[in-house]
Amino acid sequence: MIIINICLWLNMHFTFQQLRIFEAVARHLNFTRASEELFLTQPAISIQVKRLEENVGHALFEQVGKRIFLTGAGEEMLIASREILDRLNQLEGALDKHHGEISGPLRISVVTTAKYFMPHLLGIFLREHPKVEPKLNVTNRSQVLQRLKENFDDLAIMGQVPKGMELIATPFLHNELVVVAHPKHPLTGKKRITLECLAKERFLSREEGSGTRSAVDRLFTEKGLRVDPYMELGSGESIKQGVMAGIGVSVLSTLSLRLELAAGLMSILNVEGFPLLRPWHWVYPKGKQLSNTARAYLEFLDSRGERLVASRWKST
Ligand code: PGA
Repeated sequence: MIIINICLWLNMHFTFQQLRIFEAVARHLNFTRASEELFLTQPAISIQVKRLEENVGHALFEQVGKRIFLTGAGEEMLIASREILDRLNQLEGALDKHHGEISGPLRISVVTTAKYFMPHLLGIFLREHPKVEPKLNVTNRSQVLQRLKENFDDLAIMGQVPKGMELIATPFLHNELVVVAHPKHPLTGKKRITLECLAKERFLSREEGSGTRSAVDRLFTEKGLRVDPYMELGSGESIKQGVMAGIGVSVLSTLSLRLELAAGLMSILNVEGFPLLRPWHWVYPKGKQLSNTARAYLEFLDSRGERLVASRWKST
């Protein structure tokens, strides 16, 4: 690019086609062979080389006997032409990526609970499109919202889509939040446990800013109840350990409980109002120009996400 800028600054008005022709003639040191390579007539080639010489103000070739040679200016021109044409090819390649190819960066932010299924969905997509360079950022809901505001990622994955933000969003995956307890907890196996009863239990809560927490708080508030966290833990994973240790009960997404439920380390309580349905959405800021890769990934999530997660979770 520096060379192109210098050329413009020197007020040299040549075309890329002239550079291509010049490079071919200089490589072959033969007008006929260059014209065959470029599928042009020899007079057309000669005219373009002459115009280029006029534009740069120097003779680029000299004829000695029957042979042609590059002049000193021609040698310089050849070096510069190759650099310019090389950069131009790279630019064409880079622009192609934006058009058709599914490759290059794919930046995704996901809320912490989505870490249980997103790597699986990403893994399958990457096997089909090995040239994609993924960046998966796992953080809680409030951080994901901040990243959306700052347009850091290609897309985000979250439970509820926030109101009051200009976003494009679509649900693509079923999600249930359930109340979990240690298998030996006195409420395990009881039918139709009321929310009042649950509110009296030692409740392990996610941190402020978590989507799971706000869904639970909203449900209790709607029923005129309040749940006082017995203990606040910073991640779904530590909540799971707390529940398995018998410290208290909590609410978690079934997608995060695959292994623990299969191993009988936790039980799901039968509580009124649960499961809370909270489908997973993909989201990106309105007005964003999605890359071809991001678009392909969204289509993949829409068409195959539900089925792939269901089959993987069933096989546990
Ligand atoms: P969280 O979000 O992992 O921050 O709790 C979950 C959700 O948005 O449903």
